Amino acid sequence: MGHNLRKIENLYDSLAKEYAETFSGEHEKKPKDQEILHRFAQEIGGRRPVWDFGCGPGQTTKYLKNLGIEISGLDLSEELLAQARTIHPEIHFRKGNILELEFENDSIAGVVAFYAAVHFTEEQVGVAFREVFRVLQPGGIFLFTYHIGEKTIHIDEFLGKKVDIDFMFFTSDFIFRCLKDSGFEDIEVIEREPYPGVEYESRRAYVFAIKPVAPK
Ligand SMILES: C[S@@+](CC[C@H](N)C(=O)[O-])C[C@H]1O[C@@H](n2cnc3c(N)ncnc32)[C@H](O)[C@@H]1O
Repeated sequence: MGHNLRKIENLYDSLAKEYAETFSGEHEKKPKDQEILHRFAQEIGGRRPVWDFGCGPGQTTKYLKNLGIEISGLDLSEELLAQARTIHPEIHFRKGNILELEFENDSIAGVVAFYAAVHFTEEQVGVAFREVFRVLQPGGIFLFTYHIGEKTIHIDEFLGKKVDIDFMFFTSDFIFRCLKDSGFEDIEVIEREPYPGVEYESRRAYVFAIKPVAPK
């Protein structure tokens, strides 16, 4: 089951402070995140603009900013954006919906989206990938992360609060196929085991995908 956007927005609005306290600085404890983000920074180089979609409190945005990337953050939740702006006043954050992006075609050099699709149905993942593809410049880079699996977990408590929400897991086959169907090429899926004691113990994946320079 997917959620309507209002439900997702309300969830993160209600948990914004706790989410920011829990996840700010998380990459410091996750060596593979660091390796992947360094690679993204190196491959993007001086190209711009770069956006963090579903940025939450901005921990990934900040990590890339510290690597010298000109980057902004976009999220659905105003309260999470308020946290992000307070913690990282030097970074531009704005409200937006990944499923209906208010950006011109071919306008963005790079997009990262860490766990932004955890509440999406497979159909919504397809919509999100097509939107990211549309707004990326030819040659633009997309870095996406997700929890690997086939299940959906229903949660009624999260970060000490009562909630009513589903978390979706996706197979790497599905993500690969969906990116390919959206037009991406050079798709590279990198899977890893969880870091026990550091994060929820699911297997994780990072995917790099490129928008082709010339349409095929
Ligand atoms: C699991 S959190 C991940 C946040 C952050 N990237 C991280 O790694 O901690 C999912 C985030 O995606 C945002 N989000 C969910 N659906 C969205 C949509 N349609 N458009 C923009 N942001 C969305 C939520 O508000 C939330 O901040």
